[in-house]
Amino acid sequence: MSTLFKRTHMCGELTMEDVSKEVVLNGWVAKRRNLGGLIFVDLRDKTGIVQVTFDDTIKQEVFQLADSLRSEYVVGIKGTVRERSSKNPNLKTGDIEIIASDLVIYSEADTPPIYIKDDDNVDDNLRLKYRYLDLRKVKMQRNLTFRHKVTKTARDYFDSCGFTEVETPMLIKSTPEGARDYIVPSRVYPGSFYALPQSPQLFKQLLMVGGTDRYMQIVKCFRDEDLRADRQPEFTQIDLEMSFVDMDDVIEIQEGFLKKVFKDLMNIDIKTPFPRLTWDEAMERYGSDKPDTRFGFELKKLNDLVSSCDFKVFTDALAAGGDVRGICIDGGSEKFSRKDIDKLTDLTKSYGAKGLVWIRVLDGEFNSSVNKFFSQEQLSDIAKVFNAKAGDLIFIVSDRPKVVFDSLGFLRREVAKRMGLLDDNIYNLLWVVDFPLFEKDDETGELKAMHHPFTSPKLDQIDLLDTEPEFVKADAYDIVLNGVELGGGSIRIHDRNLQAKMFEVLGLSKEECDEKFGFLIEAFKYGAPPHGGLAYGLDRLVMLLLGESSIRETMAFPKNQNAQCMVSEAPAPVDKVQLEELGISIK
Ligand code: AMO
Repeated sequence: MSTLFKRTHMCGELTMEDVSKEVVLNGWVAKRRNLGGLIFVDLRDKTGIVQVTFDDTIKQEVFQLADSLRSEYVVGIKGTVRERSSKNPNLKTGDIEIIASDLVIYSEADTPPIYIKDDDNVDDNLRLKYRYLDLRKVKMQRNLTFRHKVTKTARDYFDSCGFTEVETPMLIKSTPEGARDYIVPSRVYPGSFYALPQSPQLFKQLLMVGGTDRYMQIVKCFRDEDLRADRQPEFTQIDLEMSFVDMDDVIEIQEGFLKKVFKDLMNIDIKTPFPRLTWDEAMERYGSDKPDTRFGFELKKLNDLVSSCDFKVFTDALAAGGDVRGICIDGGSEKFSRKDIDKLTDLTKSYGAKGLVWIRVLDGEFNSSVNKFFSQEQLSDIAKVFNAKAGDLIFIVSDRPKVVFDSLGFLRREVAKRMGLLDDNIYNLLWVVDFPLFEKDDETGELKAMHHPFTSPKLDQIDLLDTEPEFVKADAYDIVLNGVELGGGSIRIHDRNLQAKMFEVLGLSKEECDEKFGFLIEAFKYGAPPHGGLAYGLDRLVMLLLGESSIRETMAFPKNQNAQCMVSEAPAPVDKVQLEELGISIK
């Protein structure tokens, strides 16, 4: 074991102001070059990289030690800060260097299996297996530090608004957020299982019954669902609940929080209040309940215009209760070749569309994939709906409303991406409000809660629960940033009769309700305050603020695409003895 050189400064923080200072640095060797009488070492710690120079004024044995350095050796260096003769504008510390006087090697290192360079394009699984090396990248350390600042800002802000951070349990009964549970077997009760929380939803509501009034928690949630760039099996929420509030109260507090995050961490003034779109309007205009409003290409409904056309695909869709809708891409005709359109059609099919009709608006005429069925005049009428001009490109989808919205919602963003219209420097925050209370399950056709079954219906629509539940709107709201759902919440039901009615509409028997949520219903017997709240996806918030394309870049040890922890190699089989204790045998 070598003696410790007590650190005086961090590598990335040295500037011209430090010139002539004696400093002691600790860190990893990012690079070493020997130019005969001079050895240059790039030294890295979490704050950045600085150049250290060993010249021939130094003791011979220290010079030799410096010459033995290899990448990722862990060292301590003593030296003096000096202005550099040839400055490096690409490095934050590029104006200065350290003239070394002493060196200690704490650890030697084998050649690392991945390059430790921010923009290195290495296989994801390899990166995740050697995450502790990956985390040495200055970018990854910056991301973790930024994430820490977001949680600190959240704690400070909500504390100043009278919220109390309370921890809720991790070993619980299933919470109904709509995904599959991760379950944990009980040893004491063989055959019984805990579920890991998909969110603290029920417990935060119990905290309101318990008089906590304003609760917040930065909390791990677990959902066994298909993974995507913005989804992990284990993720973090900034979770909030408030008593004696309506939707406007919740929204006002949250806007204050986001305003502070943007100001304090990004130095950006965002305008409040944020725009609010009803769910109906979001779907009609953008085909999505998380619309990206950084660009246009809004949807238009063409049902009336094409109701008696000769194109059976459209008329059949209408006869089956479907819709015909389209988007118009400004200047899209020149941008997208026939091949591009075929590719876009294929991609759109994964959202259920059977095909994509296109119309190129040319100078005084129209060319389309449906020339056989539509006269130039009819095509001109369609173009007029979009105010299309020469050079534009129209895409049309006809199908069930959900398929039409999903397909065009995807397409407008995909096209915008390909046209370079997704400007990372614009932050369009908005609320989507007035969600439907229920949606139809794609597979079973049965009604299910769109948010969760504790969400309050609009109080003036309660009568419709018996007759036309599918038309009832909820006191639910989502916060959306540039087309990503950052968070969601609602005003909750606090009346046990209304909660029972809700379960009845969802087709849950009394026994099932008692079994699953009896404790919440019982709690409501003893005086529940009106309450509501919201949860942000912390990982998503950090991802968007950092301009990253995946939440994995914001987490220290994320799972891979197949929900595996590449570092510890979980999931893994367990001992026979453990299984026996739990009363479990594997099929
Ligand atoms: P919801 O299910 O909408 O609401 O979740 C809230 C937010 O959590 C984030 N999120 C995820 N982030 C990463 N990976 C995932 N698998 C994942 N799933 C969700 C999203 C989402 O908006 N209890 C309610 C909140 C409430 O009503 O107060 C809830 O959990 O950013």
